[in-house]
Amino acid sequence: MHHQPIDPRSTDARPAAGPAIDLDHISRLYRTFAEDLDRARERQRALLAPPASMKAQLDDIEAEITYLLLREARPETVVEIGTFHGWSTTWILRALRDNGTGHLHSYDIVDHVVREVPDALATGRWTFTQGDARKNAERIPATADFLFIDAAHSASFARWYVRELFPRLRPGIPVCVHDVFHGRRALPFTEGAVVLRWLAERENTCFTASRARAPEIHDRLKDVKRSLALGHPVRESTDNPMIFFTLR
Ligand SMILES: C[S@@+](CC[C@H](N)C(=O)[O-])C[C@H]1O[C@@H](n2cnc3c(N)ncnc32)[C@H](O)[C@@H]1O
Repeated sequence: MHHQPIDPRSTDARPAAGPAIDLDHISRLYRTFAEDLDRARERQRALLAPPASMKAQLDDIEAEITYLLLREARPETVVEIGTFHGWSTTWILRALRDNGTGHLHSYDIVDHVVREVPDALATGRWTFTQGDARKNAERIPATADFLFIDAAHSASFARWYVRELFPRLRPGIPVCVHDVFHGRRALPFTEGAVVLRWLAERENTCFTASRARAPEIHDRLKDVKRSLALGHPVRESTDNPMIFFTLR
């Protein structure tokens, strides 16, 4: 049974040296914030109800872990790269609203998100910048204390953020990166391969609830959710490739 974060260099589980984002920790967060998460899930579900035009990409378990890590970390400055229609954006803003503090800076080439995020979530806590995040790099606050990336899934985009963005940010902040574990391993020449190599070079580890990569962790979290009456899907999806780690 996998209880530890995953070493990106191998299929073996090994413990993180820093504060661990692992199965026990995430399970504890599910229990701690169960009531708020239940409310957040129902509000998110309402955003998808007809005649909504919101197209959601992030899977439930990925969105929930992001929400829980945000509730725990209580960041003042969150950076999100890749909003599309705002599914992740609304989850993040909901966590900041439930925290009663924090501002989200979002970046995307397309601006669908500005028509989708309800004013009640956006007002006073959201700044959207349209354009290629790489060209707006100087507008990404170096004070970010939580980073969420779900944008271009190319190796070149990942090389940009590991070389140009990560070094500007404070070590110790939680980071979420999508599209890594669609399968047991990240494919060569992809964003996933680049970020996993970067983590391995720093002897850092990551956590994933990806059904393809870590089926036992995935099933254990599903059990935790069911035990808290959080089992009913907000949206149907079986793909959950996101990784979570602490920046070093
Ligand atoms: C998979 S979608 C994001 C989905 C969203 N996070 C959600 O939960 O529904 C990826 C988004 O990244 C944006 N994107 C791609 N390359 C980008 C770049 N260089 N800078 C900013 N945004 C980019 C795309 O326009 C697209 O909207």
